[in-house]
Amino acid sequence: MSLSKKVTVRSLTLAKSKGEKFAMVTSYDATFARLSEEAGIECLLVGDSLGNVVQGQESTVPVTIDDMCYHTSCVAQGANKAMIVADMPFMTYATPDAAFANAAALMQSGAHMVKMEGGAWLEETIALLTQRGIPVCAHMGLLPQSVNKIGGYRLHGKTRTEAKQLLADAKQLEEAGADLLLLEMVPAQLAAQVTQKLKIPVIGIGAGNQTDAQVLVIYDLLGVSGYIPRFANNFLHSNNGSIQEALAAYADAVKSGSFPDAEHTPG
Ligand code: KIV
Repeated sequence: MSLSKKVTVRSLTLAKSKGEKFAMVTSYDATFARLSEEAGIECLLVGDSLGNVVQGQESTVPVTIDDMCYHTSCVAQGANKAMIVADMPFMTYATPDAAFANAAALMQSGAHMVKMEGGAWLEETIALLTQRGIPVCAHMGLLPQSVNKIGGYRLHGKTRTEAKQLLADAKQLEEAGADLLLLEMVPAQLAAQVTQKLKIPVIGIGAGNQTDAQVLVIYDLLGVSGYIPRFANNFLHSNNGSIQEALAAYADAVKSGSFPDAEHTPG
């Protein structure tokens, strides 16, 4: 897929049907949004990971809707064609009514889609939002906003029961109207199966290279996070220290399917 035209839900679904992979990266400001788009990255995620990498918090839990609206509006100033997906932060979608008001605020700040973490319980909320014209990306597998409940960041969907549940929930959310699915820290084989069973594009992080797209936190791919997770690669290191070349190398590696390789696939 390329960025010759504005990226839409339709163009992403069409790319999946043609077997063309696309890339997503997190973005928190106008400059990196512009550089990422110039590098050919189709989707910019205003991730609540900004709680960790921008605010220096221990988790994404303290991030507020005002923080997300502010960074979404910054990213929107730097991007012309890329799709901007904004995270709904902790507890802002605990009820369908709350989700509706908070998603509207993100869309009015410049997002083209909102993302929320969870499984089948999101069905009603996803139906409500998508029927009213707000595209939704469902985030399954490792759910960072639930870190206090799950007690750490680990692979999800390892047992047969967990895998069956994840696949069933993914199908249910697709039927409810979800436009994209993001799988974080899921075994590669399970991510491949989900990708094959769903019509909507599936984006992976720590989920092998058989998904339709990949996402990385930009500070991880530039090797400046302090800690680089096993599934990330330092593209800056391998590209002469040029941020532009690092972003382009990431986009190319995702689209050609060479990233992630086995070394960057948790098992
Ligand atoms: O907030 C974020 O950056 C994310 C990615 C880790 C997928 O949700």
